[in-house]
Amino acid sequence: MRSDAARLRIKGGELAARPYSRLLGSGAMSGTFRAHVGFLFLCLTSLRGQGRYLDVQENEITPEGLLSLLNSELKRELPDDVVYRRPLRCLDMISVEGQFTFSADRPQLNCAAFFIGEPTDVISVEYNAVDIDCRGGDFVKVFDGWVMKGEKFPSSQDHQLPLFERYVDYCDSGSVRRTIHASQNVAMIFFRLHQPGSGFTITVRKLRNPFPCNIISQTPEGSFTMVIPQQHKNCSFSIIYPVEIQIGELSLGHINDFKRSLPGCAGSGDFVELLGGNGVDTSKMYPVADLCYSFNGPAQMKIGCDNTVVRMVSSGKFINRVTFQYRLLNRQELQKLKGNSVEDFCFIE
Ligand SMILES: *[C@@H]1O[C@H](CO)[C@@H](O)[C@H](O)[C@H]1NC(C)=O
Repeated sequence: MRSDAARLRIKGGELAARPYSRLLGSGAMSGTFRAHVGFLFLCLTSLRGQGRYLDVQENEITPEGLLSLLNSELKRELPDDVVYRRPLRCLDMISVEGQFTFSADRPQLNCAAFFIGEPTDVISVEYNAVDIDCRGGDFVKVFDGWVMKGEKFPSSQDHQLPLFERYVDYCDSGSVRRTIHASQNVAMIFFRLHQPGSGFTITVRKLRNPFPCNIISQTPEGSFTMVIPQQHKNCSFSIIYPVEIQIGELSLGHINDFKRSLPGCAGSGDFVELLGGNGVDTSKMYPVADLCYSFNGPAQMKIGCDNTVVRMVSSGKFINRVTFQYRLLNRQELQKLKGNSVEDFCFIE
């Protein structure tokens, strides 16, 4: 059943979330929901096809397409001292450490490989051997984050580096910066090679991140505690699946002294928002609920979007902490959420 206001159920009452109806701008999102199996096929086809000259940075891959690539990456157990090696594909997803070699057997103009680690990892990419024709228009660039359908994660607003510094182009700086450390558990590489026989080898590593901030979850279920210790920054935990989120505990350092008459969390410099949407840029997603009071949960919500985000906004004055767990919605739950509504961008309960 669809209600006009999203309510987050919480023991002992309800936290008022933003009125859902206000979030529904145009009907432009209609019909996009769960049409992805076919869509993924189209995405992969268009990326692989040489007929179309796509800008790789505007790649058409969807979050779900990516995750199914990830799921096709078999989990491998290797002894510690053996480096895992395999060829890199023109469209690839890598979640294991190892050495990856791309060699062009024909012009490959629109290639991208996505890297992902555990929430507490940072990805590093090292160029081992690169044989490309920079002057002829070839390139290999690492991006600090993911770009999907032109949207970036982390959002430009939430990343400490300006956008141009998040790209490291081998042709500009490869001899100086052979190893690039990302700022979070996701990174990617774009490449374009014209000459058959050209190629490159990279080593991907996962290093420990003592202060994970922006994260994409590798799995549709899990739990996480996000802490921002007196830092003026915002952190997002992104789950690229329709999920139920259960917030176990929210602890915001401030005393709840801002004006309660204001809607949502306006007036509070420290809060947690739940966002839903179909892309990866959190600044373009829709607020589903705002939480600006500390509580001990559980408070839960089902969010039937392609991407669900827990985002913490922190003024730097306090230690803020949120603990949550999440699990994939099953088919029946999604159907139920969908209910009678046909126009919604995604479905929440
Ligand atoms: C964090 O997000 C809030 C609201 O979205 C914004 O007003 C603030 O400027 C952001 N802070 C930083 C450090 O980016």
